Amino acid sequence: MSAISVPDVLHHARITGVGGYRPEQVVPNSEIIGPIDSSDAWIRERSGIESRHRAAPDETVVDMSEHAARAALEHAGLTADQLDGVLVATVTHPYQTPGAAPEVAMRLGSTAAAFDISAACAGYCHAISVANDMVRVGTAEHVLVVGVEKMLDFTDPEDRGSAFIFGDGAGAVIVSRSTTPGIGPTVWGSDGGQQRLITQRSSWIELREDRDLRWPAIVMEGPSVFRWAVWSMAKEAQRALDAAGVTADDLDAFIPHQANVRIIDQMAKALRLPADLPVARDIRTTANTSAASIPLAMDRMIREGEVDSGGLALQIGFGAGLVWAAQVVTIP
Ligand code: UT7
Repeated sequence: MSAISVPDVLHHARITGVGGYRPEQVVPNSEIIGPIDSSDAWIRERSGIESRHRAAPDETVVDMSEHAARAALEHAGLTADQLDGVLVATVTHPYQTPGAAPEVAMRLGSTAAAFDISAACAGYCHAISVANDMVRVGTAEHVLVVGVEKMLDFTDPEDRGSAFIFGDGAGAVIVSRSTTPGIGPTVWGSDGGQQRLITQRSSWIELREDRDLRWPAIVMEGPSVFRWAVWSMAKEAQRALDAAGVTADDLDAFIPHQANVRIIDQMAKALRLPADLPVARDIRTTANTSAASIPLAMDRMIREGEVDSGGLALQIGFGAGLVWAAQVVTIP
């Protein structure tokens, strides 16, 4: 019997380009507070959010992905025909099927393998891990990874616990074959026993059966998620540092999922990060864009000169599932 032939050489992988897209409309807290009896001061103090971007009604996750992907390709100095994979991390593409990724690939002019990844706010870091493995074993040489959300389509403007927290946008990176290691081992996991903490209010089937049900918006038990994020996720982030063989002192940036500025600050404290280490706080004017938050924050830090190409960034995504994923990456 013949044996299956498999590659026996592992390659290195790194991020070679990043791009972001923020929709034109800026929505300040003052436009959110009415239906939830809140205030600009409360939202700033409890979450750090000052404003968010809202996609136009006819602007889709595919449209936003295309903008971010074109910017990432340009940064990487590549064209779409060089892509071997297109991964789109999202939970707000409003079609059960087909996924968003094949359409994103088609818009760019690519017929590469294309599929979506559903891991909520951790989707981007999951996709980085998959793209890294594709490049490592030789399945692909260049993979486009997009994190994109139109969260405001799935937000209840009358829900006090979530109406102020989410925003729309897309971030994209290219993961490419490299001569040196640029993506550390991924530390990831899940805790499905806590699925009720962040969830769609009802299923599509329940909505079909009971027309009195409200739109199945994404809702969360904020304080429980907050405690989980602060206490458990800092430990996972530390495990990602250990897995990569680096310490907090070796880092050039900390780019966690942008869920709440108080979570970001407490994680930085728990990780004992150097006081002068650049920490992403893109949440202030972008809010929580779920799968898009880390690449959007990285894009801003690079564009504003806060981090240099070649430096090391610790990134961690966490959210509905509950699920999480973290890795150390070299900044493109
Ligand atoms: O991206 C996925 C992961 N998601 C997260 O990581 C989100 C994690 N959770 C959070 O970020 C926070 O829990 C929130 C920002 C969502 C809420 O902040 P909090 O400090 O946990 O508020 P709370 O729900 O504990 O409420 C504190 C107080 C309460 O009043 P009393 O009982 O102290 O008098 C609430 O009734 O604030 C009140 N409150 C509000 N007041 C004004 C709750 N929501 C609001 C509101 N506006 N929207």
